[in-house]
Amino acid sequence: MEMEGFAPSGSREAELLQKIDESRLPRHLAVIMDGNGRWAGSRSLPRVAGHRAGIESVREIVESSARLGMEALTLYAFSVENWKRPRSEVRTLMALLKKYLRQELGQIHANNIRFLAIGRIRELEASVREELRHAMRVTAKNTGMHLYVALNYSGRAEIVDAFNLLLRERRKNGDTAPVDEEAIARRLYTSAVPDPDLLIRTSGEMRISNFLLWQIAYSEIYITPTYWPDFRRLHLLEAILEYQKRDRRYGGIQAPCEGKP
Ligand code: FPP
Repeated sequence: MEMEGFAPSGSREAELLQKIDESRLPRHLAVIMDGNGRWAGSRSLPRVAGHRAGIESVREIVESSARLGMEALTLYAFSVENWKRPRSEVRTLMALLKKYLRQELGQIHANNIRFLAIGRIRELEASVREELRHAMRVTAKNTGMHLYVALNYSGRAEIVDAFNLLLRERRKNGDTAPVDEEAIARRLYTSAVPDPDLLIRTSGEMRISNFLLWQIAYSEIYITPTYWPDFRRLHLLEAILEYQKRDRRYGGIQAPCEGKP
């Protein structure tokens, strides 16, 4: 595909971009950003230096995904399990998130991106909640890419939340009809967008770690050894190309190629 100003001509990024089929981009990309601590450790730096460097990757992947024309990007920034980390690390992660939003909101808004925090947001500290609400309010009417940032997130808790919401509504309406998949899917945090086509996990771990459990039922999974702070536009393009080589069957058989007898 062609895209002016995306990558300098002659660069590896430009070469990869040429090979990408614009009509088969993932509509929704989900990312488990892992390896910040190891990135820092391999440079004898404190773990928080890895998170700080990881912000640069967030900035580049958000901008690149929006420019490529994706409908949604979901980033796993803080799981319910992450509270077990040292208090100072948790504090730094929250501070970095606030800093990112303060610095990037203008650009996010200018790129017509809609920012949404997902997870049990009410359990976060007030100053973080305020920053998130502000970003959501400012970008609420944007019509471009949905940027979901998962915070205090758990895939199981998301399904429980959807179920409880459904139960409350049913009690109110006196509805006793059987529940179907659609009823749950419509109450998930990401119900406004299609399920992820592609799930990327950085730093080589072969786990899902309680991320978007319902939504990734048919997602293609791409695991790269690259640590998150090193994962940039080039790596995103590599992942998309690999995704475009996959044969997605959704449990069926290979579709016959169009135009072939
Ligand atoms: C995983 O690395 C990364 C995280 C737990 C946090 C990701 C958060 C950011 C990049 C910053 C804030 C986010 C946004 C969206 C602005 P790890 O610490 O688990 O690495 P390790 O497995 O090597 O220890």
